[in-house]
Amino acid sequence: MIEDLVRKDIESLRFAHPYVPKKYINLSQNEPLRGIIGDKYATRYIGPHYYELKDRLAAYFGLKRENFVITNGANHGIDVCCRCFLEPGDSAAMYDPSYGPYFMIPMINGRSVVRLTLDENFEPDWSLFERSDAKMVYIPNPGNPTANLLSLDTIREGLDTGKVVVVDEAYAEFTDVTAVDLINDYENLVVLRTFSKVWALPGARVGYTIACEKTSDYLELSHIPYHMANPSLKLAHDVLDHQEEMEQLVRDTIELREELREGLRALGLHPYPSYTNFVLVEFPKEVDASRIFHELLERNIFVNNVSGQPRIENCLRISVGLREENEALLRELGAVLEQWADSFNTVVR
Ligand SMILES: Cc1ncc(COP(=O)(O)O)c(C=O)c1O
Repeated sequence: MIEDLVRKDIESLRFAHPYVPKKYINLSQNEPLRGIIGDKYATRYIGPHYYELKDRLAAYFGLKRENFVITNGANHGIDVCCRCFLEPGDSAAMYDPSYGPYFMIPMINGRSVVRLTLDENFEPDWSLFERSDAKMVYIPNPGNPTANLLSLDTIREGLDTGKVVVVDEAYAEFTDVTAVDLINDYENLVVLRTFSKVWALPGARVGYTIACEKTSDYLELSHIPYHMANPSLKLAHDVLDHQEEMEQLVRDTIELREELREGLRALGLHPYPSYTNFVLVEFPKEVDASRIFHELLERNIFVNNVSGQPRIENCLRISVGLREENEALLRELGAVLEQWADSFNTVVR
């Protein structure tokens, strides 16, 4: 029962968010008389429940508005789960290598984090989570920085622990696997989604959680009131009219991603399979990925240095860019590796 997992004092906030239907003359919210730079989107509070965007999402997923909570990006979804489920003294878990905010956000909230490790195939051993003190786990699917995809059976095994499982699906549209299909079977499941990746609105800061109605109801009580900016909501609402363009963007990204992986392979490197818009690439033992990262920086190319994390000790994470950006990366990386091989040969000789 989800009630047993939710923070005990959350229920007492239920009175707090008044919803004012449009038909009223609204003299309840201390709004301004008029706009100063026009009245486009921002001169009225339109929360706190953001039903218009929820209804669009409900139609998109074939669910109800009650299954959604609108958040400031998926990162805020991580925060909402932390506030909803973790009492003082409770902890969350994450499986390294993973996404940094799963560690940062509970810490900001004064909660501790249990660091578990993925196995050599980047899969979670759920018995580690089950045996740990953690009440909730954050798991990205597809993974970041691993870029791999867990099956729904694997997600189900995590849910069968009975603890809260937050499946972060920031990149889900690059696959056809989604834990959204499980929300009505598991009250302890929360799925995080975002408009930042395939919907191409990272600057708007809009995301949402998807869960069964009962769990969503508690999540809705766990964020500050009126947290969303109207212009951002409008952008998210409007972009949903452009599903074909979104799907084309996904196809274009996948094409460039596979070209990039091919180019990396041609340089003698090991790019892992990817279900995202980035590539995790492993360097041979004799080449130090961290030094390559710095050499690329010298050449004005900034990738993500994930080396040093468990299971990916000698890897970099490279976002898929425009074709000319990917080509520049491959060209500079090739030059750096050649330089490296020359100096290595000199030392050996
Ligand atoms: C796994 C994962 N979750 C969440 C986010 C953040 O998404 P948002 O911009 O919606 O906060 C990212 C961004 O890179 C991510 O990789």
